[in-house]
Amino acid sequence: MMRYSYLYEKKRKLDLSRVRVALAGIGNCASALVQGKEYYKEEKEENIGLLAYDIGGITPPDIDFVAAFDVNDNKVGKDLSEAIAQEPNNTPSIVSNVPQQGVKVTRGPVLDGIGSYMVDVIKSSNPEGEDVAQVLKDSGAEILVNYIPVGSTQATKYYAEQAMKAGVAFVNAIPVFIASNPEWEARFKEKGLPVAGDDVMSQIGATVVHKSLIKLFVDRGVKVDETYQLNVGGDADFLNMLEESRLKDKRESKTSAVKAMAPYDVPTKIGPSDYIPFLKNDKICYVMIKGRYFGNTPVQIDLKLHVVDATNSGGVMIDAIRATKIALDRKISGALTSISAYCFKHPPIQMPYEVAKAEMMAFIEGKNDR
Ligand SMILES: NC(=O)c1ccc[n+]([C@@H]2O[C@H](COP(=O)([O-])OP(=O)(O)OC[C@H]3O[C@@H](n4cnc5c(N)ncnc54)[C@H](O)[C@@H]3O)[C@@H](O)[C@H]2O)c1
Repeated sequence: MMRYSYLYEKKRKLDLSRVRVALAGIGNCASALVQGKEYYKEEKEENIGLLAYDIGGITPPDIDFVAAFDVNDNKVGKDLSEAIAQEPNNTPSIVSNVPQQGVKVTRGPVLDGIGSYMVDVIKSSNPEGEDVAQVLKDSGAEILVNYIPVGSTQATKYYAEQAMKAGVAFVNAIPVFIASNPEWEARFKEKGLPVAGDDVMSQIGATVVHKSLIKLFVDRGVKVDETYQLNVGGDADFLNMLEESRLKDKRESKTSAVKAMAPYDVPTKIGPSDYIPFLKNDKICYVMIKGRYFGNTPVQIDLKLHVVDATNSGGVMIDAIRATKIALDRKISGALTSISAYCFKHPPIQMPYEVAKAEMMAFIEGKNDR
């Protein structure tokens, strides 16, 4: 496996080798991330799912979870290792045992975090929560990862504010626009803090497959006439996404990632489509692309992708966290455009997948500062 440590490795290994991370939202994605740290505690022959085992001198076990926030009574007050196993979390285990992390889940404010489909599922006895900025400061966190539910606009803005107040970088895994919003990016820049996002793009998820296929059609001279992407799943994320009014940014995030691959407008319909409880954390995606090639001949692709949702984003987030730590070390602030383009669906600058990957590698190697 290639190593991408280069010039920065020595310095980082001396004094900056650990990454102190806080998590907001201890759902399935947080579970996959925490389990991932344990799964990759030693370098494997094949480090499947990671850009590299060592990024800028930082390996997955160098990540320390120092603070965690949730609103669910089932999770608040428990060690992070226990909280990730509480209902309604239902992602499969990738390790047999997650050791105690030494960090208890703090109660955050609910704000708009619990949608109408979740009120019967998530019991939250004290919706006010604690002083998140103070908890972040006391924990020594360097990066706050936002993993709260789709449609949590106020709550995401709240966590972004708390990150700035505490002097902590923000990595936004959800489709509320922070890194890709020029006003928020300017505020992070003013504070001297990096921000990456928005809406994590899974390793081999619907978005990266769909956008890569549209680009293939376009590159091969096929005119794309119309396309759709339907998604179903059985986890809390899909239950929450039954509430159409919470989906505006989710639809825009997924749709803009795909539309950006064609130099002309393509009639497109993309979004979460239904909740099927027995699928648990499995997600099934159907993509249809219709077009025309030589001689105006019609062509159509119908694709079905079946994945486990949470683990699909775990490696991407381990990479995004490590790259954000590199930005902190180099005192780079504002939106991290290369990391965001590679790891997220709705970055400040949308790029084809291979360009985004090259840009992110250049960033890690110190060849560009965005
Ligand atoms: N591959 C993926 O799974 C993937 C890909 C892209 C984006 N995302 C997004 O990442 C986010 C997390 O996904 P998930 O599957 O873990 O969701 P989840 O519903 O399992 O977890 C969300 C957690 O946030 C908690 N929460 C709700 N309001 C809160 C608040 N105000 N403060 C703190 N915690 C709060 C909930 O109790 C729950 O534990 C979702 O927005 C999802 O759409 C996931």
